[in-house]
Amino acid sequence: MSTPRFALREISVRYGGVVAVDRVSFDIAAGSIVGLIGPNGAGKTSLLDAITGYTRCTGQVELDGHRIGDLSAHQRARLGVGRTFQSGELFEDLTVAENVLVGSYRGSLRGFLGEIFRLRQRTPPPVVRTVLDQLGIAEIADQLVESLSTGHRQLVAVARALVSEPRILMLDEPAAGLDSAESAAFGSVLRGLAAGGHTVLLVDHDMDLVLGVSDHIEVIDFGVTIASGHPSQVRADRRVIEAYLASDEAVDDVLDDHHMADDVADDVEGHDRG
Ligand SMILES: Nc1ncnc2c1ncn2[C@@H]1O[C@H](COP(=O)(O)OP(=O)(O)O)[C@@H](O)[C@H]1O
Ligand SMILES: [Mg+2]
Repeated sequence: MSTPRFALREISVRYGGVVAVDRVSFDIAAGSIVGLIGPNGAGKTSLLDAITGYTRCTGQVELDGHRIGDLSAHQRARLGVGRTFQSGELFEDLTVAENVLVGSYRGSLRGFLGEIFRLRQRTPPPVVRTVLDQLGIAEIADQLVESLSTGHRQLVAVARALVSEPRILMLDEPAAGLDSAESAAFGSVLRGLAAGGHTVLLVDHDMDLVLGVSDHIEVIDFGVTIASGHPSQVRADRRVIEAYLASDEAVDDVLDDHHMADDVADDVEGHDRG
């Protein structure tokens, strides 16, 4: 078997007494999309932070067979670990192209901001244009981010991560705030990236998106892997259904209203996270 693009071995993250990620292991093959799902607080962002070097962890992280777990976030990024952040973090008063340019800048962010006025006088490197084209946002290159829709913002965040030409791209809730049509369009963009050889770890709450675009799914709950496999297998997995039912207060309310059979109610209560 060939070396996977990316491998996690027994990754654990602790915050004081809280075990946010508990010995999670999986591989990501080059050119594939792996979806990481789980209820709120399951440990998804903590795992991405551990992989990218933003939080301390135990276990091993391997990129193309090389251990990168002892490197800084900056060193991992240089080796090709790209990511977006859950909260977006775009520069509102810069244009789309300028925001994307930030991702290609090799120096410090402070250095970039110091140079932005000089940089914007120059023609951006060709990779900026290529990435904007790939994501279908070339026509908004000169718009200020503050004027953009949520859908466009999410694409700009992905573009900014892509422009560094990462070997693996980690996306934390890129479809947050998208309507179902925007989310479907975003799914097509992701499949296009994978078809072009990109490797993606996708975290999102939009089940239609994640189950629709991923080649493989990993499900975590309370930091522990509870299921993994093809999207069709995971969709039918009882533990996965229970984890999502219990995390959804609206579903609890419906169950209460309809005085559901005791065994179902017990099941849900057993997984209540309060
Ligand atoms: N910086 C932190 N300090 C302490 N606890 C944290 C911190 N970040 C996350 N947690 C806790 O770790 C658990 C996992 O959180 P997180 O990784 O954000 O989950 P998810 O992204 O799946 O919603 C939660 O119990 C959360 O409260
Ligand atoms: Mg999160």
